[in-house]
Amino acid sequence: MTTPRISLVQGDITRQSADAIVNAANSSLLGGGGVDGAIHRRGGPEILAECRALRASRYGRGLPTGQAVATTAGRLDARWVIHTVGPVHSATEDRSPLLASCYRESLRVAGELGARTVAFPAVSTGVYRWPLDDAARIAVGTVRTTDTSVEEITFVLFDERAYEAFAAAVG
Ligand code: AR6
Repeated sequence: MTTPRISLVQGDITRQSADAIVNAANSSLLGGGGVDGAIHRRGGPEILAECRALRASRYGRGLPTGQAVATTAGRLDARWVIHTVGPVHSATEDRSPLLASCYRESLRVAGELGARTVAFPAVSTGVYRWPLDDAARIAVGTVRTTDTSVEEITFVLFDERAYEAFAAAVG
């Protein structure tokens, strides 16, 4: 176990060639908008077919928030997609342990797969409305303090605002 290298890229995560890319999914695992929509659109129907099989076997009630599960990556350059479910941001309840868990669990799954490079989007910062600066602090803090065999982590930020928030968190 070593500390992974962390890098930041502004762009579309579906264009990344990491061993595994992480999907900001919802617990249905059956697709949606944002990163999820982009991954299924570009990755093709195989990914959805594997997600359906996971729902029919291990996750009849859906993938719980904060957990992660892998499928292959269909037509994407990556070998695997790791689907994780971020928490919806709440003004009244501190759900940050669940957001941290998304990063930790995704790295655990990546390690089990033997992935050496992993690309993450800014989980929960779109439809789930998590403030970017706080999400970036949690994401960077968590991957820095997680024991993992993953060697390189790339945060793929869709726009400049997200990139700046992660750059500030990396320091
Ligand atoms: N590559 C990288 N980042 C992206 C891309 C992309 N192609 N597309 C959007 N982002 P979101 P969430 C950024 O909404 O908040 C879905 O419907 C986006 O700008 O994808 O975790 C799921 O099915 C934002 O910063 O995920 C769930 O229902 C970040 O990725 C729900 O949204 C995350 O935005 C999950 O919401």
